[in-house]
Amino acid sequence: MTPKTVLITGASSGIGRALALEYAKAGAKVALVARRIESLNEVAQEVRALGGEPLVLVADVTKSETVHKAVGDAIATFGGLDMVIANAGVGGTKHAKEISWAFSEQMIDANVNGAVATLVSAIPHMVERGSGQLVGVSSIAGLRALPNSAVYSASKAALSTFLEAIRIDLRATGVKVTDVQPGFVTTPMTDKNTFKMPFKWPVEKAAKVITERLQKAPSVIAFPWPLVTALRFARLLPNALYDRLVSAADPRGL
Ligand SMILES: NC(=O)c1ccc[n+]([C@@H]2O[C@H](COP(=O)([O-])OP(=O)(O)OC[C@H]3O[C@@H](n4cnc5c(N)ncnc54)[C@H](OP(=O)(O)O)[C@@H]3O)[C@@H](O)[C@H]2O)c1
Repeated sequence: MTPKTVLITGASSGIGRALALEYAKAGAKVALVARRIESLNEVAQEVRALGGEPLVLVADVTKSETVHKAVGDAIATFGGLDMVIANAGVGGTKHAKEISWAFSEQMIDANVNGAVATLVSAIPHMVERGSGQLVGVSSIAGLRALPNSAVYSASKAALSTFLEAIRIDLRATGVKVTDVQPGFVTTPMTDKNTFKMPFKWPVEKAAKVITERLQKAPSVIAFPWPLVTALRFARLLPNALYDRLVSAADPRGL
């Protein structure tokens, strides 16, 4: 199932932009949502050049009413939405001793409240038509807490749990829910990182894999497999052993 109409938050750069270009190649109508209008306009030009139909919608996902309006505008303009991807998010690492409330609040607002506002805005529309795909971009950092990533790991774990719960609730409605859990991907977000990022993928590869796998609407899309396997295994470890191992490996800020 390839969507003919898709809305993507965080479409002005990185993974969101790359996903928009993948769907443009398939001739989709793509609603591009983010705060920076100049970047969105550039992505819109690329979408058009690849054969897609862009719709630029400026919205700050931390302001729920603007997200709600963006989703409504896309539905009205395209005549419906086959897929909504809550991808917008912010990254950043901080040791527990350095976390401020302002740092926590902006991250949870964008990564949790912003994603939830996006998805809940689309649920009534998709349930009413009995079809559609809701997608959230969380992270493998939500699988188990990582050093210096208390807020980021917690925000992504919250989003993954939210996605799992709506997947269960919407089971009989025809609406599919997918949790995308990337490892490190080369984007402006990770360009700022100075630490080692094992198995980092180019953004084009990540977008290709995500869009290909989304055709089957699985409950989870997680990559790359060595990190996913390690973190899934880590969930089975006793806390004392996990704490010691992860402190030694220190894979910060996924
Ligand atoms: N890159 C990785 O290694 C990696 C790994 C795992 C998960 N992820 C997740 O993937 C998603 C995309 O990240 P990325 O790596 O592509 O980062 P990025 O290049 O920095 O892109 C982030 C996008 O989110 C948008 N955004 C941020 N805050 C927003 C807000 N309040 N309202 C609207 N849009 C907002 C930004 O647009 P504006 O600034 O124009 O608003 C931008 O388009 C994030 O949720 C991230 O946590 C990334």
